[in-house]
Amino acid sequence: MKNVLVIYYSQSGQLGEIAQNIAKPFLNSNEINVTFHEIKLEKPFPFPWDKNSFFDAFPESFLQIPTALKPVSEVVLNTKYDLVLFHYQVWYLSPSIPINSFLKSDEAKKILNNTPVITISGSRNMWIMAQEKIKVLLKEANAQLVGNVALVDRVGNLISVITIVEWMFSGVKKKYLGIFPLPGVSDKDIQESEKFGKVMLSEFQQNNLSNLQPKLLAIDAVKISPYLVTVDKTANKIFNKWSNLIYKNKNNRKLLLKLFNVYLFLAIWLISPIVYILHLFTYPIKLNTIKKETQYYKGV
Ligand SMILES: Cc1cc2nc3c(=O)[nH]c(=O)nc-3n(C[C@H](O)[C@H](O)[C@H](O)COP(=O)(O)O)c2cc1C
Repeated sequence: MKNVLVIYYSQSGQLGEIAQNIAKPFLNSNEINVTFHEIKLEKPFPFPWDKNSFFDAFPESFLQIPTALKPVSEVVLNTKYDLVLFHYQVWYLSPSIPINSFLKSDEAKKILNNTPVITISGSRNMWIMAQEKIKVLLKEANAQLVGNVALVDRVGNLISVITIVEWMFSGVKKKYLGIFPLPGVSDKDIQESEKFGKVMLSEFQQNNLSNLQPKLLAIDAVKISPYLVTVDKTANKIFNKWSNLIYKNKNNRKLLLKLFNVYLFLAIWLISPIVYILHLFTYPIKLNTIKKETQYYKGV
């Protein structure tokens, strides 16, 4: 018997559903014990979010400051897993607070030590630099990253800002004003994510996990938008300044968060379209770098 651990955190249930679908082929195998572990916080974040809590989560998300988690069960802690399917979401271009808290915990270090891990993210669309941060955290836990699937909202960047914010503040996945598309990872992509589980299982059973990623890529596990990579990298530099400023000025936190809110609005609606136009103009000159980067970010 082999042991597989499925780890996830989800507020809306979206990543929980993805985790269930990806795990299906494993659950159908007689030779594998599948265990689910849902990461839970001592003090949960609100869902739906209110505006204050939403912005208040920014500095600690970006600076990857951990918070207290509910303990992992003894069974999970005392089992040696042959594979971990690790599902996470992105908050402010970083692994969400529950995810970074888990990865930094002693419990995670025990579970993940010397263990192959496949990461599965369910985000809006800006996950590239968060995945780089996950790579560091996995390395620190002595885990081996062997595969990555990035599920995103496929509608245009600015449309998904509107629909996801509406979803986060209402708690309901619905067509905003009746005209906008549904927010988040599409139902079709969620249902079809079982196909990734099939490929993972097949490589796992053949002891061939080191060759997993190209097989996942062949079925569209990761799509890279060079434009979003540019925005993600640029925004990381600016978020770094904001998060430190807010975190260090505890007395002015409320005011600074309000200013950050205004900045974020302008960055999304004014700066990102300008970056887009610049990106179009510089695309031909940067083609070689973009090709190299795309190859790198598709890999593990
Ligand atoms: C506070 C907050 C910040 C977020 N920041 C990002 C982000 O930077 N990039 C991104 O692609 N998605 C972002 N999202 C969307 C999440 O990654 C995720 O898709 C959504 O919260 C649904 O996840 P769930 O399974 O926990 O419900 C953010 C969501 C929240 C609540």
